[in-house]
Amino acid sequence: MGDLPMPADRAGGDVTAGSGAVVVAHELTRVYGEGETAVHALRGVTLAVEPGKLTAVMGRSGSGKSTLMHLLAALDEPTQGHVTIAGTRLGGLSDNAVTRLRREHIGFIFQFFNLLPMLTAEENIVLPLTLAGAKPQHEFFDELLSKVGLQDRLKHRPSELSGGQQQRVAIARALMMQPHVMLFDEVTSALDPELVGEVLVVIRNLAREGMTMLIVTHEMQFAREVGDRVIFMDEGKIVEQGKPSDVLDNPKEERTRQFLRRTLQLDHALDELTIEEGG
Ligand SMILES: Nc1ncnc2c1ncn2[C@@H]1O[C@H](COP(=O)(O)OP(=O)(O)O)[C@@H](O)[C@H]1O
Ligand SMILES: [Mg+2]
Repeated sequence: MGDLPMPADRAGGDVTAGSGAVVVAHELTRVYGEGETAVHALRGVTLAVEPGKLTAVMGRSGSGKSTLMHLLAALDEPTQGHVTIAGTRLGGLSDNAVTRLRREHIGFIFQFFNLLPMLTAEENIVLPLTLAGAKPQHEFFDELLSKVGLQDRLKHRPSELSGGQQQRVAIARALMMQPHVMLFDEVTSALDPELVGEVLVVIRNLAREGMTMLIVTHEMQFAREVGDRVIFMDEGKIVEQGKPSDVLDNPKEERTRQFLRRTLQLDHALDELTIEEGG
């Protein structure tokens, strides 16, 4: 699909038409609040979530990553610009129509697992289907469980599961609806370090199967090894994107370099940081 997204001023018209992408962001702007206290969380972001690829989104805290994910998942509405899901332009659609599009196409996994505490792992996983009045097919369900490795934890409640297991339940729950695109927002950030790997392995295996994914992560090594593309955001904009090896090893933009320097050297350079820089 080449170098999507192109800057709108060069592209003329619908930059992402014909790309085959299920989810496309067109010049998204999102402003929270009004007047002097308004926060410009996104400032004109255009991107197509490339089919069958894993795209890693990186950038410092507050750069607009979560806002972008929420807009792509139709959980929030842009101030300007629009999102298309499966070729349908959001905005002006009924809530029901948006819910249907989201349910049919998009799986969203958050930093915190949002499992229902009174339900078992199994009940949490099948809940979306249960709510839709359907039952899982045995074969599909077994295959799903083998992907997330929860066979012996099905009868446990979330409080009886580790953070890594809970996050895998959340991933299974999203996969239950057979989405075309999976969006992950810092899904390992709340986990103890030794539990991060088991979640990343599940995501890597999905990537190998050709699942289309957009993942906000700070895991450099993962982005490098599993990612097809890295997008680096700052101050509500995409400032750099490309192959992981190019963006992470040979960044063109000073802001990307600065971010990578801080992230990679934090362990060694804590003495030299001020509180302002540390954020
Ligand atoms: N609901 C909200 N109301 C007001 N400001 C918000 C809201 N959500 C996010 N922001 C602000 O928008 C900016 C981008 O936030 P966010 O998208 O969460 O960034 P990231 O995920 O990269 O850390 C930040 O300045 C944040 O404080
Ligand atoms: Mg965030």
